Amino acid sequence: MNILITGGAGFIGSHVVRRFVTQYPNYNIINLDKLTYAGNLENIKDIDQSSNYSFVKGDITDLEQMRSVIKEHSISRIIHLAAESHVDRSITDPLIFVRTNLIGTSNLLQACKEAWKNDWSGKLFYHVSTDEVYGSLELDKRMFTESTAYDPRSPYSASKAGSDHMVRAFYHTYHMPVVISNCSNNYGPNHFPEKLIPLFINNIINKKSLPVYGSGENVRDWLFVEDHARAIDDIFHKGRHGETYNIGGHNEWSNIDLIKTLCNVMDKKLNRVEGESEKLITYVTDRAGHDMRYAIDASKLQDELGWTPSLQFEEGISKTIDWYLSNQDWLDNVTSGEYQKYYNNQYGE
Ligand code: NAD
Ligand code: DAU
Repeated sequence: MNILITGGAGFIGSHVVRRFVTQYPNYNIINLDKLTYAGNLENIKDIDQSSNYSFVKGDITDLEQMRSVIKEHSISRIIHLAAESHVDRSITDPLIFVRTNLIGTSNLLQACKEAWKNDWSGKLFYHVSTDEVYGSLELDKRMFTESTAYDPRSPYSASKAGSDHMVRAFYHTYHMPVVISNCSNNYGPNHFPEKLIPLFINNIINKKSLPVYGSGENVRDWLFVEDHARAIDDIFHKGRHGETYNIGGHNEWSNIDLIKTLCNVMDKKLNRVEGESEKLITYVTDRAGHDMRYAIDASKLQDELGWTPSLQFEEGISKTIDWYLSNQDWLDNVTSGEYQKYYNNQYGE
């Protein structure tokens, strides 16, 4: 089985690539990534010499290139994670999100349709999406289910919603075997330090201010990234075609509570006086259109495929902080931009 994983040099993609390369030696994993600022081959350097792994530097917005990669590598299944993924960047530059997330996904669908020539046997297009397509919840008990109406409110979530619709359109119109999962906020090793948890870990290490948007009351549902990769594995192998599966941690935190917990845990790990890091908290202007709350009802995934999150948040956040503390080089390379030389050194470009 030749599986194309897109975005495998990014945060979640690198954990999915590692899982598939190590757990399934009989699968050939082809990792296609453009290596934007968010792509970093160091994230997967522990497995890049594996005989069932290869890397292609490619851009999903280039239809011709997608046609030739799918043909050349006889791709029969795709796990599609490549995307622009940061909400704040989508507010500054919405069009790159339309190009990558909507047009890029549409290109991949079209390239697969052409290569697979309506012979759907053994084929799969697995699209990795986000809970943000469902919009924003109030601060109450309601949760997103798979039948919650789409109501995206940022350029990022609108572009992801558009890509989900295109995937479903290829299922209904051409009968392409597809599956979609919509996951809540991930955290863990290799998370790019522009997102809340890794940014704040890095700032606490360096005693820099911690910019809390608005009142800090916004709520997110956090899931350890390896649990997401395991859910993707389950859905890839056992998910029903044409279906959507929500993935979440049953782990809601207001931003300010999460940040204070992070500060306390890091004070202990860094042998700092209790309360020292909390002094770095600075309330700043709110994100435009800031969604108040996300919460995922993952009971379909649990009931149908038996998946549940494995890590408690306290354990997951401690593991995550430890990873950043013992991978200071990774953080330094990423924050300095040095990591972008890795591909050139490896492949001689
Ligand atoms: P990320 O930004 O860390 O990684 C994205 C990867 O895609 C990078 O390696 C980048 O180089 C690559 N990429 C970007 N544009 C490309 C292009 N045109 N062609 C080829 N590759 C390109 O993102 P992430 O946080 O790992 O998210 C991965 C996927 O999971 C995304 O589709 C995202 O929407 C979804 N998701 C993320 C979260 C989360 O909490 N991070 C939660 C739910 C769903
Ligand atoms: O819900 C899934 C989504 O989670 C994914 O689809 C996205 O790709 C991913 O980036 C994430 O989106 P969020 O916007 O929720 O994540 P972020 O880490 O950017 O922000 C988390 C919360 O913290 C959010 O309420 C905004 C707030 N925040 C964020 C940053 C970067 C701050 O208060 N200060 C900050 O500096």
